[in-house]
Amino acid sequence: MLRDDVYRRPLATALDRLGVGPGWKAVDVGAGRGDVAVALAEIVGHGGRIYAVDSDPLARDETARAAGAYSQVLAITQGAEDLLLPEPVDLAFCRFLLLHVIDPLSVLARMAAAVRPQGWVVAQEPITSAGRVGGLPLSMPDARHPDVGALLPSLVRASGLELVDAWAEAPADAGPGPVARYLAELTGVDPEDDPIVLPPLVTVLARKPDSVR
Ligand SMILES: C[S@@+](CC[C@H](N)C(=O)[O-])C[C@H]1O[C@@H](n2cnc3c(N)ncnc32)[C@H](O)[C@@H]1O
Repeated sequence: MLRDDVYRRPLATALDRLGVGPGWKAVDVGAGRGDVAVALAEIVGHGGRIYAVDSDPLARDETARAAGAYSQVLAITQGAEDLLLPEPVDLAFCRFLLLHVIDPLSVLARMAAAVRPQGWVVAQEPITSAGRVGGLPLSMPDARHPDVGALLPSLVRASGLELVDAWAEAPADAGPGPVARYLAELTGVDPEDDPIVLPPLVTVLARKPDSVR
């Protein structure tokens, strides 16, 4: 998937930092077409479990298709605000989700509630206006919180989680290539040879203290 192509490094870095491995149980909230869920399924193996949650019923079908033989992927239609799983998980993950929800803090709190004590909550969200095309800021009028990435560390702390690490990464390029194609897919406009910095993705790695439920 193109998004995985250009934003693959923040995902790989985050999963490496956590040491996600065989047997882990995780939920990808706002899983979309299931790109991250499938990447996680490869790592956790058949002894693990990946819940791919999305409010759009079409996403469930697409994730089920993408998961193919990975029977450890369970695609569920559920709003992030109502996140409820049959068991506690080791990791609750979201990417490009909180910018679209009404209340990012309450979604982070649901994610915190879904993980076991000492489990992980990881969010990767953009600072859209920090992206640049031809030196000019990007915008995303359809998103409720296009710059939510800039607030992630404080939102994580406000949800009662322990912030372990936070950083931002942005793919950049000029001319034809995956970054230009991604931008054209996002905006419908071909950037041609303009220099591009895609919206930086802020990653937060947070841990659930024993006292938070
Ligand atoms: C931009 S896509 C990101 C997909 C995927 N996380 C990724 O990084 O490739 C946002 C996804 O969040 C889902 N979504 C939006 N609001 C949601 C909500 N309140 N609860 C659950 N899913 C939601 C959308 O249906 C969509 O699939």
